[in-house]
Amino acid sequence: MPDLISRYRDVFGGPEGTVRQVRGPGRVNLIGEHTDYNGGFVMPMALEAAVRLALAPHDGPAVTLWSEQFSEKAEFTLGQPEPANPPHWLVYPMKVAAVLADAGIKLRGFQAVVQGDVPVGSGLSSSAAYEVAAALAFLLAAKPELPAGPADGIAKAHGLTTQRLAKMCQEAEHRVGVRCGIMDQFISLHGRRGHAIVLDCRDLSYVAAPLPTGKAKIVVIDSGVRRKLTSGAYNERRSQCEEGAGRLRKFDGRIEQLRDVPLDLFKAHEEALPSVVRRRCRHVITEDARVMASVEALKAGDLARFGEFINASHDSLRDDYEVSGPELDKLVEIARGVEGVYGSRLTGAGFGGCTVTLARPDAVGRLEQAVLNQYGKATGLVPRIWVSEAADGANVEL
Ligand code: GLA
Repeated sequence: MPDLISRYRDVFGGPEGTVRQVRGPGRVNLIGEHTDYNGGFVMPMALEAAVRLALAPHDGPAVTLWSEQFSEKAEFTLGQPEPANPPHWLVYPMKVAAVLADAGIKLRGFQAVVQGDVPVGSGLSSSAAYEVAAALAFLLAAKPELPAGPADGIAKAHGLTTQRLAKMCQEAEHRVGVRCGIMDQFISLHGRRGHAIVLDCRDLSYVAAPLPTGKAKIVVIDSGVRRKLTSGAYNERRSQCEEGAGRLRKFDGRIEQLRDVPLDLFKAHEEALPSVVRRRCRHVITEDARVMASVEALKAGDLARFGEFINASHDSLRDDYEVSGPELDKLVEIARGVEGVYGSRLTGAGFGGCTVTLARPDAVGRLEQAVLNQYGKATGLVPRIWVSEAADGANVEL
């Protein structure tokens, strides 16, 4: 791949002005799925795969972007109405700019090349990676004298925290049409090399949990099934959870979100819930407990136990939350049949996308072989397999 700064010069010419580069990583979630918008717990890690922008600011209000992926140029103007029928990939930076401007941040236009290697629609948060990278691009264009470095430096220079920035990027996603939780934007900004992050999605406190890289590998496998998050199933799940929390509040007035529902209270009153809502709630309430138990297992170095929670998470997402599918189930089944695999589950929102598998290092080759031998035959699809290391969060690279 040619370096992005040279691509910038190919597309926009040069050499006037300095070209800078920002990065927002994708993520894989190890456990804690569909808990974030219920105020609960998640355990994601940032990926090396990321969205990058090479940009040069200018004095005008035009934001001109070239997408490497779509080989297409598109433009919008800060402070002006959005263009009619923009290409889908332009909508994210447009919404990010609007959220930043609404917060009173003075923006400047820029030209940029956008490049990403987070597969789109695969459950690895390409959209959050893009929002975060775009946010850094806007903040940098507004203060181009700022040096390269982690995201918190540039956030601070604008009087922001990275928590606040994560929320702003989440708001941008809401404006695109998905009522997502905070996990993806948060991990993209707060990832730490060699670590997963255990995040309390209500107060945004978090700890970095070291991953035992010598004893286990994180394998991400793309099913090849693409989902569209805006398709409504995601927002529908969220509403069902809100309905469940609302109904359970009758039994304890302190319940605001499903995060506040103890398992025994749920068990005592689950009959009061319509059956679909009951199953959605059961997933979320038990998943929160699995995250907390996984933290303990990881601390104790008990990877077999962590693997059991990972497996239980998938089964719950499949049966109670109903966001899996035959292809994801097949990948999980294949992985679980491999000696040395601790656990395997779908990761991200579901409805297609990827699985995450925790495996002994010596099992990775067997896992790859098993998937290559069996998955295509069963589904007619071509899987992609990565062994992933946990990466640092977003930054100004150059
Ligand atoms: C998507 C959303 C997240 C989270 C996951 C499911 O990735 O963007 O906020 O809800 O789905 O855990």
